[in-house]
Amino acid sequence: MATPVKKTIAVLPGDGIGPEVTRAAVSLLRDCAAAFNHQLEFRELPFGGAAIDRTGLPLPPETLAGCRSSDAILLGAIGGPKWDSLPLEKRPESGLLGVRKELGLYINLRPIHLHAALRGISPLRPERLADCDFEIVRELAGDIYFGQHELHGDAGTALDIAAYSTAEVERVARYAFERSAARRHHVTSVDKANVLATSALWRQTVANVSRDYPGIALDNLYVDNAAMQIMLRPSQFDVILTSNMFGDILSDEAAALAGSIGLIPSMSRGREGQPALYEPIHGSAPSLAGKDVACPLGAIFSATMLLRESFGLELEARWIETAIERVLSHGYRTIDIAEPGANTLHCSEFTERIRTEMNDVLVHNERYGWGV
Ligand code: IPM
Ligand code: MN
Repeated sequence: MATPVKKTIAVLPGDGIGPEVTRAAVSLLRDCAAAFNHQLEFRELPFGGAAIDRTGLPLPPETLAGCRSSDAILLGAIGGPKWDSLPLEKRPESGLLGVRKELGLYINLRPIHLHAALRGISPLRPERLADCDFEIVRELAGDIYFGQHELHGDAGTALDIAAYSTAEVERVARYAFERSAARRHHVTSVDKANVLATSALWRQTVANVSRDYPGIALDNLYVDNAAMQIMLRPSQFDVILTSNMFGDILSDEAAALAGSIGLIPSMSRGREGQPALYEPIHGSAPSLAGKDVACPLGAIFSATMLLRESFGLELEARWIETAIERVLSHGYRTIDIAEPGANTLHCSEFTERIRTEMNDVLVHNERYGWGV
């Protein structure tokens, strides 16, 4: 058994379904700690709309400080109609952009992985879906997201500035090549270099970085074509490397292939040794909030990514994931991933099924091929 670890995790439940799905993920992390003698301390902090209601700010200074002093961060979701009329810089979303910027989280990794039991709910026919399994590396700290934004409603004008530096492109490109080196040795860089100056710089910089990785094939696609290729033949991709804005859009599209945006986790990280942030890529889904019907899998897979990537706890991560595959193969579903007519479970019931299955996997370790 691996050496027990002692770590602090900042938990930012946020708004809408955020609190329900993070509660599910944290409860399984607690089981994991108990079974392996790890000491995990969870520090819950106000964030997003919930923090605006309590403190007037979406990212209060104590939340930021709590994130900085933790070993990793688990986030739910933010936003909702209640805060939609606020000016951009005061909305819950500005808290999310703030934490990304303040913690220097410039890499966003979004794995698009199909679960065998869920292939049937993909909108794509099986022969097109093939063995689709890829990762999106989205630049997270630059681009039009962090340029100047101006809205002059009275004058009927607005502007948003997109900017990139070579250094910003280089560091995220290196990560994509390194990720691909442990996979299928193929990076597809996505830009709009036929129109945008930032994309021209992007393409040139990625080409330069690729010289350091002679064993990895590099392709370039324009973003419009990439959007089409993801739908036509997703199995052609290994690692997609792209800018902040394009990565935001393409990752929702790619999530649809897996059957539901509710399934996809993400990691946002900066320099080695700094706390990384894990969150499902779905939003706060205000219409589902408080009904205990949301799918907790995006948050739970974010938690297993956290165990694996931040704490090096591969066996523990695989324990939870093995249990989830088994729960899915037994036909248990939340509403977003249910075939028509299937019996659906509430978020909390589904989480209990996973917990029960985790115990079973622990007992029948060898039979289920986990941990051997
Ligand atoms: C995401 C979200 C955020 C983004 C929003 C909520 C600011 O859509 O993480 O994909 O655009 O990055
Ligand atoms: Mn998004």
